[in-house]
Amino acid sequence: MVGPHPFPKMVRNFQSVMGIEAREQYLEMTGELPDHVTACVGGGSNALGLFAGFIDDDDVQLHGVEPLGKGTELGQHSATMTFGKPGMIHGFKCLLLADEEGNPAPVHSIASGLDYPGVGPEHSHLKTSGRVNYHAISDDETLDAFYKISRREGIIPALESAHAIAWAMKFGRENPGTTILANLSGRGDKDIDYVTENFGHG
Ligand SMILES: Cc1ncc(COP(=O)(O)O)c(C=O)c1O
Repeated sequence: MVGPHPFPKMVRNFQSVMGIEAREQYLEMTGELPDHVTACVGGGSNALGLFAGFIDDDDVQLHGVEPLGKGTELGQHSATMTFGKPGMIHGFKCLLLADEEGNPAPVHSIASGLDYPGVGPEHSHLKTSGRVNYHAISDDETLDAFYKISRREGIIPALESAHAIAWAMKFGRENPGTTILANLSGRGDKDIDYVTENFGHG
């Protein structure tokens, strides 16, 4: 999703297969569209691919979830959409987490696929236009979702994906009866050793 034009557009278009299929499958399974659609945001292509399927459905609210990591101070998180300011990275302009000199700042997330100080330019636009809402989820909330989905559904989610699941669980608790489609962007097999060695079995 990152890079100068036309790379973000190319990636979004390739990834949109996921959103188009998710929309079709959701309609087939339930006869209606979800109220909310959510995915985690690193560079942004996985979320944009999903959102592309629903972007013209005005009644479907879109939510990108980014990492709040260990806290709100610069260096503790990778919450570009929440704390970033317009800046340049890798040849394109976007919301950027930068140090005092404007250089990309060090970032952190428990999910290695989300620790990037920039974000795709289309996400920056979608935030500014208000079509997508962005939320930040901490490492602890992510781990909680990781364990819960593993135990209750038998699905081990990637730590990246667990950010979206954590937000969906929180939002679902606060809004009973609402329907949420959450993107499981990857399997957690790659994370299971790291999680159990560092945080035990939950
Ligand atoms: C499993 C998984 N989900 C999501 C992401 C983030 O995707 P994107 O960079 O497209 O936002 C990554 C990135 O590496 C990933 O590995």
